[in-house]
Amino acid sequence: MRSYKIAAMGGDGIGPEVVEAGVQVLKTCAERDGGFTLDVQDFDWGSDYYRTHGVMMPADGAEQLRQFDAILFGAVGAPDIPDHITLWGLRLSICQPLDQYANVRPTRILPGITSPLRHVSGPELDWVIVRENSEGEYSGVGGRVHKGLPIEVAQDVSVMTRAGVQRIIRYAFRLAQSRPRKLLTVVTKSNAQRHAMVMWDEIAAEVAQEFPDVTWDKMLVDAMTMRMVMKPQTLDTIVATNLHADILSDLAAALAGSLGIAPTANINPERDAPSMFEPIHGSAFDITGKGIANPVATFWTAAMMLEHLGEKPAADRLMRAVERVTADPALHTPDLGGKATTRQVTDAVCEALRRAN
Ligand code: NAI
Ligand code: MG
Repeated sequence: MRSYKIAAMGGDGIGPEVVEAGVQVLKTCAERDGGFTLDVQDFDWGSDYYRTHGVMMPADGAEQLRQFDAILFGAVGAPDIPDHITLWGLRLSICQPLDQYANVRPTRILPGITSPLRHVSGPELDWVIVRENSEGEYSGVGGRVHKGLPIEVAQDVSVMTRAGVQRIIRYAFRLAQSRPRKLLTVVTKSNAQRHAMVMWDEIAAEVAQEFPDVTWDKMLVDAMTMRMVMKPQTLDTIVATNLHADILSDLAAALAGSLGIAPTANINPERDAPSMFEPIHGSAFDITGKGIANPVATFWTAAMMLEHLGEKPAADRLMRAVERVTADPALHTPDLGGKATTRQVTDAVCEALRRAN
């Protein structure tokens, strides 16, 4: 029997609610499959931990996570702690040392979900956005001088390395090659940012030589937002920088119907450290504790986790169960215009899994 060690980290706000639901669904997947088991260990790191210990996680936090096969993460962020402390103190402090350099965000319109785009209901919108997740605009390089004085200067330096750009573009080409349309769009802003973004374009052209069967094109990020809205069917796999893809993927999540559905995976493609799976959304203080958080994004990312672990049949079965549930408007949470609770949706997905073949 195959067995996987999973670190479950709910974090803040609705994070613990959706991760608990995700763990329940994952365990049902394992029972239904019969070929593997999951050994889940809970971690209480996050803003409560910060209030007690002054740090978001222990200094050796990332090292503790190395022994796991995968991490299921909820969200981080609290109203009384600055966002740059919570984000850098937990999520980025895990992604960076574990070298989870590929952030992968699939977007589809699931059955029963209405896109805000008129005339778009299903196959016209089926994308995967690949976000550079280790450097670029979020490298953390910079500083502030003359703090608080009228002559204050603040800098965030974007760092792009040839090795970093090459590996993310190669990952994106490989992913595009594995998808039926074999279509990749490389997003930059090389007209205005004339150093690093020009290097992106050059590296894309070089790496493209290794993938003669992949059709690829280039877009400037501003024009890309229009293309996503006006011609969604012309896109398939998309690769962009840390900042650009961060923004584009929120747009993608909205076009697919709700932030409560969109999943993401922080992948270490070489598998020398565990990858981390999470919903795109944040801690959603406005609905915390009400039991109405949409758990679908977490279920979808749990399916990505199963696929990454090599349990493709279980991953596919989970997505079919999720789609059966989203297709029923009576099982929509309030973000989708319905009245269902997190618990009702979770129980329905578990039930669909038990009945699935
Ligand atoms: P948010 O994603 O937490 O919420 C935005 C809106 O979407 C809210 O109205 C919320 O109720 C709704 N929403 C989000 N997820 C939902 C779900 N599963 N079901 C139903 N409705 C859902 O983003 P916001 O408000 O900008 O940020 C709140 C906090 O979360 C901040 O501290 C922020 O820094 C943090 N954050 C953390 C992220 C992470 O951990 N990866 C990502 C985004 C934000
Ligand atoms: Mg974001």
